Amino acid sequence: MQYGYFDDKNKEYVIERPDTPTSWSNYLGSTRYGAIITNNAGGYSFFKSVAQGRFTRLRFNAVPMDQAGRYIYIHDADTKDYWSASWQPVAKPLDEYKSECRHGSAYTKISSDYSDIATNTNFFVPLDSDYECWRTTVKNNGATKRTLKMFTYVEYGCNWNANDDLNNLQYSQYITDMSVVDGIISHASNTNLPEMPDNLEEKDQARYTFLGAVGVEVTGYDTSREAFIGPYRSYANPIAVEKGECSNSLAKAGNPCGTLQFEITLEPGEEKEFAIFMGIGRAEKEGKQVVEKFANLDLIDSEFEKLKNYWHSKMSQMSVQTPDGDVDSMLNMWSQFNSLMTFFWSRAASLVYSGARDGLGYRDTVQDMLGVMHAIPELVQERLELMITGQVASGGAMPVVKPFAHKPGFEPEPSPEEFRSDDALWLFNAVPAYVKETGDLDFYKKVLPYADKGQDTILAHLRRALEFSIKYSGAHGFPCGMLADWNDCLELGQQGETVFVAFQLRYGLKTYIEICQLLETYEDEITWAVAELAKLDKNLHEHAWDGEWFLRAYRDDGLKFGSKENDEGSIFLNTQTWAVFSDHASQEEKVSAMDAVHRELATDYGIMLCAPPFVNTDYKVVRAALFNPGLKENAAIFTHTQGWTIMAEAILGRGERAFDYYKSTLPAAYNDRAEVRQIEPYVYCQSTISKFHPQEGASRLPWLTGAATWAYYAASQYIIGIQPDYNGLSIDPCVPAKWDKFQVERQFRGATYQISVSNPNGVNKGVASIKLNGEAIEGQCLPVCASGSNNKVEVIMS
Ligand code: GLC
Repeated sequence: MQYGYFDDKNKEYVIERPDTPTSWSNYLGSTRYGAIITNNAGGYSFFKSVAQGRFTRLRFNAVPMDQAGRYIYIHDADTKDYWSASWQPVAKPLDEYKSECRHGSAYTKISSDYSDIATNTNFFVPLDSDYECWRTTVKNNGATKRTLKMFTYVEYGCNWNANDDLNNLQYSQYITDMSVVDGIISHASNTNLPEMPDNLEEKDQARYTFLGAVGVEVTGYDTSREAFIGPYRSYANPIAVEKGECSNSLAKAGNPCGTLQFEITLEPGEEKEFAIFMGIGRAEKEGKQVVEKFANLDLIDSEFEKLKNYWHSKMSQMSVQTPDGDVDSMLNMWSQFNSLMTFFWSRAASLVYSGARDGLGYRDTVQDMLGVMHAIPELVQERLELMITGQVASGGAMPVVKPFAHKPGFEPEPSPEEFRSDDALWLFNAVPAYVKETGDLDFYKKVLPYADKGQDTILAHLRRALEFSIKYSGAHGFPCGMLADWNDCLELGQQGETVFVAFQLRYGLKTYIEICQLLETYEDEITWAVAELAKLDKNLHEHAWDGEWFLRAYRDDGLKFGSKENDEGSIFLNTQTWAVFSDHASQEEKVSAMDAVHRELATDYGIMLCAPPFVNTDYKVVRAALFNPGLKENAAIFTHTQGWTIMAEAILGRGERAFDYYKSTLPAAYNDRAEVRQIEPYVYCQSTISKFHPQEGASRLPWLTGAATWAYYAASQYIIGIQPDYNGLSIDPCVPAKWDKFQVERQFRGATYQISVSNPNGVNKGVASIKLNGEAIEGQCLPVCASGSNNKVEVIMS
């Protein structure tokens, strides 16, 4: 079943049927003023932190889903009929009510068509602003004059601390202080306390937001939810909307809401427009300023164009034209936008993440950079430096770094029980990727503090990460599992060992050697790392191979994970893929391991994390056993890992398989059977339920996931095959044989490369020749061209 389509030209996903199987959401704003909006205008807004800066309410996982939101109700003064400018919450029958939702890059347009009245609302946050705008047009398509009474609705939090707002009712229900100043709603809490704008973590402080209208005359208001909706009613039938009249309520306790009432009369064919602004600050100051600034509605349009151009320019750093439309829709917009939103919001804000995970989880955040490196290198640098200062002097990393509270040099060192074994090793993916994108070799020599004490060059930070893993190694010479390795659900114990992190360590040592060779003056370092790598390889040869594939781990009592000796979890995906790109395994082992993946783990919906699932295993051995078989870490298709599988197959040159794997979890590939996957066909998700569960194919936890970054990284660098390198752009595609040609436009260090690849012999991999501006070049790496230059590249595969 299909609910919408990709409008590639406008970089929008268009939902034509609003009754989607789950709410299909989008992001507005920035990390200062952020917002979630769904295809039915549900959602919430927050300032700086989802947990401590949430000022409007959404009830997570409620019935009906995705309420409350940003609503505009319409009441016909003559017929007394009423509806909403988004299908929900009034939910008129869909044979009479038409709606379209266009999710775009940090904006969402929702239109409605009912009873000859057409509305179109564009929700967005202007760049560098602490307020959002709902720009609306209303048109009378009928033959008679219409008088419409309109009502806005947002439901505010009483306290900006989201948890207190919903749970600490004996407190939060008594701190509201609503007023209306010159037609602008003032939403205030704790007004007897001082404001502490720089201290988000203090919940007992005065806070203010405003809600104002431009282009209409406000004739009434309600600021008490109880007064507006009425007892035993719902968002579908508020008493004020039914009556067509607000009661001008002023909430001084209880639940505040933002309802402005105004009237619009329309002659046949006539269209009128207005805008609603909601933002941070006082009604009499910031509210007034914003309303006055946008008195001319045309200014809103130019702010909107600026916003659109900003995001589109970020995402046009790389664009492709391939024979596969789904691939183009994802790579040119949604895969990138998904990676960008994941980079910005980490695992804090979505319809699933409600702020409980505030701050930046180390491993996820460092990985999240990989898919956005080309788009926002300056912001990546800032974030990367922050994370490097989250590494402690012993080489391990703080599990979570809180950007608004982090104090490098003064953070306590985590106890050995708190460390995750993989955290700091992700720097070996992110740091070189940053340097390769920007060419900033000096970055390796930049001095940054450790989280707890001391400071050193970034190169030395990297070395400490290696030392940490080597120091905390167990009986077989592999890094200890600690609290967790990448998999949060393996209980290895402090002395248990992870083969996955052993491969990460190998990748780290290999990368460290490459960097030291590049920087030239580090002979001793190279000698040290080469010796460590040889030791590790020997241990891996002796203790990691299980006959047909690689083991996953050893518990401290010697129990193996991911072995044919295990009835459950006898094969795990991650050690097979990482054996390939850490380059430890022999060619035969690589092929055998990846063939085992295909045989034992691949399904039509993607590759399972492990199999068979844990049913009889004690959850104290594998915590994943607490999930039903086929869910999450218990043998679901854990999408984070799919990119690694694609990369491993591409390294082996098996283009058909790499591409099949890519398509099996490509959101757009499910657009015409969206009822199976259920979630947004334009974004990645954390996991897809596997064949061990009756709901196979259904996908969960959209948007904020490592799947986004790795899918983009794998597709752009290993399928399309454009890999930034220290000396230029390396070209090494691995594609289906039927792709006879494709085009890429890549901005790289200020130069434009227009790359045409042709594949006359229908191969999967292999570059026969490359011409740069008509001249043949040696090898597969395009040199760095002059900034501002436009370069034509012709690649012939064979
Ligand atoms: C979740 C976590 C991530 C972890 C993964 C596997 O996605 O955010 O950190 O690696 O689960 O357990």
